[in-house]
Amino acid sequence: MNTEKLKVFNLKSDSKNLDRACEILKSGGLVAMPTETVYGLAASAYDEKAVSNIFAAKGRPQDNPLIVHISNIEMLNDLVSEMPKKAIECAERFWPGPFTMVLKRSEKIPASVSAGLDTVAIRMPSNQVAAELIEKCGLPLAAPSANLSGSPSPTTAEHVIADLDGKIDAIVVSEPCEVGVESTVVTLATNPPRLLRPGGITLEQLKEVLPDIVIDKAVLAEPEKNKPVASPGMKYKHYAPKSKVIMLDGNLQDFCKYVNSKAENGVFALVFDGEEEGLMVPTVSFGKRDDAATQAAVLFDALRLLDKKGCSICYARVPTLDGMGLAVYNRLIRAAAFEVITL
Ligand code: TXA
Ligand code: MG
Repeated sequence: MNTEKLKVFNLKSDSKNLDRACEILKSGGLVAMPTETVYGLAASAYDEKAVSNIFAAKGRPQDNPLIVHISNIEMLNDLVSEMPKKAIECAERFWPGPFTMVLKRSEKIPASVSAGLDTVAIRMPSNQVAAELIEKCGLPLAAPSANLSGSPSPTTAEHVIADLDGKIDAIVVSEPCEVGVESTVVTLATNPPRLLRPGGITLEQLKEVLPDIVIDKAVLAEPEKNKPVASPGMKYKHYAPKSKVIMLDGNLQDFCKYVNSKAENGVFALVFDGEEEGLMVPTVSFGKRDDAATQAAVLFDALRLLDKKGCSICYARVPTLDGMGLAVYNRLIRAAAFEVITL
């Protein structure tokens, strides 16, 4: 399949390309689009065939439900069967933005979008290109991250091309994603509300609207085998580069000592900016140590870079858990398949 590359950097001057993307989506095709979190692989949420093509193109397990993207609040009416007061407050506070709500779903959505669950995940992105595309189509768009299932999520159009060129109808080529990790997922279909995936909206921000929110076990720990999980996506090894990642929990001095003792061909270190000095192995850096937002913005690119540079085993620094650090930690520990060595 020839994948059309549709450049949309300026909504006015590139509007023809956005029209083309819209045409493809309306006729049941798959289009990768930028969002403020990561690039998404979009299809009409009402088109069962198109939705099943998303799963096929990504190699995604059928039991992992998709997020439905909207551009205005009225679109919710056809998607959910009930809208609790808390959900309205969350929508007012966090939309448009990197926030996804799980609510009881309406019958109008094909079961495959929700992987057979009685709920649906919904998000209103703030990225202007995504918002305009949804609004133009007049359709809610089901969109998981636009990567091959299991590999690091795509934060640039180049990442999408590397994973999905030839497998989907078109890619909207635009700016790199600002946030760099996926949206925060909260279920309001349970009481109390539950954080299923940390992301661009922090736990501290959530607590301002949802003071009783609880953190799902799967956010920080490895899900137990053969047990049902609240958010199916959390049970898979995820975000992983081809190289093996091991997190080393300790101070910088101990980190350097440990890594240097393992120095050989193919061994790399994933460190914070400016920490390269004491290390005898090649390094890739992922943001400032005290600034989790900068770590989130570059983490997935850093994981892809390790593969490009021929890394076979990578020792990684451990981010702190406050603010966006929770999301960075959650992604990194999955990339490491939960392997953490305490120094
Ligand atoms: O930022 C994002 O959320 C990006 C962009 C493209 O919007 N999308 C994204 O989609 O990350 P995906 O498919 O890679 O991750 C969706 C997550 C998965 O962990 C999935 O299990 C969870 O949301 N999810 C979706 N529907 C759900 C539901 N009904 N109940 C519980 N979890 C759900
Ligand atoms: Mg994903």
